[in-house]
Amino acid sequence: MPEREPYTIAWEEETGSIVYIDQTLLPGQYRVVRCTTVEDLARAIRRLEVRGAPALGIAGAMGVALAAVRSAEPDLDRFREGVGQAADLLRGTRPTAVNLAWGIDRVVRKVAMAASVAEAKALAIAEANAVAEEDELTCRRLGTFGEELFPARCTVLTHCNAGALACRCWGTALGVIRSAVAAGKDVRVIACETRPLNQGSRLTCWELARDGIDVTLIPDSSAAYLMRKGAIDLVIVGADRITKDAVFNKIGTYMHAVAARHHGIPFYVAAPVSTFDLARTEKEITVEERDRTELAYCGDRQLAPDGVAVLNYAFDATPLDLVDAIITEIGVLRPPYADSFRLVGKEEGI
Ligand code: MRU
Repeated sequence: MPEREPYTIAWEEETGSIVYIDQTLLPGQYRVVRCTTVEDLARAIRRLEVRGAPALGIAGAMGVALAAVRSAEPDLDRFREGVGQAADLLRGTRPTAVNLAWGIDRVVRKVAMAASVAEAKALAIAEANAVAEEDELTCRRLGTFGEELFPARCTVLTHCNAGALACRCWGTALGVIRSAVAAGKDVRVIACETRPLNQGSRLTCWELARDGIDVTLIPDSSAAYLMRKGAIDLVIVGADRITKDAVFNKIGTYMHAVAARHHGIPFYVAAPVSTFDLARTEKEITVEERDRTELAYCGDRQLAPDGVAVLNYAFDATPLDLVDAIITEIGVLRPPYADSFRLVGKEEGI
């Protein structure tokens, strides 16, 4: 992204509000929206105006800060109760990306520590801004570790959008790609469209093309054939949650991992430590199911007959034995993950 662009999501000090890029409008329209209520933020998260795990972590943190700052309640206990209700509302918006709850909890903990309402408000804003600033550092660090896995010339397949738009800026999987390009490597990107909401074609292609990074769009169903033709050197994706045994990411990720293993192509995941949930296993995680209209319609155009059942999982789980490395801000984790996860140290939960 050009340097002077606003961040994907940020706290606006002068107005005490959240500003974010409405991702549902891209690539046709670039609009920055100001959000002044937690209800509006919850709606924006459900509609995927703000989306992507790290950006959801920032949104959760800033949403709790928004509730705190906008509260007119002078009594500390009642103030905390109100902030807690806002936190619950935000927590319930999307169940799979663990960063959302992680960001919310960071600010709720600060509010719980405060000795007065004024202190709680100040701590909440400071913590929400810290979550956002740390995300940028994390992505840059992770990018530096990850780019070392890229050959000097390579074609990389990615799925969904794990880019600047999914974070404060820079990105996780796309951050690694950006770091490789910045290091002088000749990187071509194959972006899967990512049906049904097209985060790949709408967002990944938009942000990479803007940065002058070579990107080619394919339908999701082309990926295995391109691997068979020898046209892909490696796969890199982001993650919404990493449990003891699996990586949750946008629906379709698992099939790329299976195809990559079949063709002997490395499959890498890039994710911050905040995405790890090592106290849980795949079976314990709720995978978000979204509305049938996302599949049955394309805008106003009907794509499926009325009444036909639709199964619209937003995410899938890729077992860790298909993952060749997980790139984090603390380094590159390799199998056996039971050992390398000790470095992450989150066995006790998020
Ligand atoms: O439904 P979305 O668009 O929020 O899904 C996003 C993804 O699956 C991303 O790949 C993931 O959050 C990683 S973002 C760095």
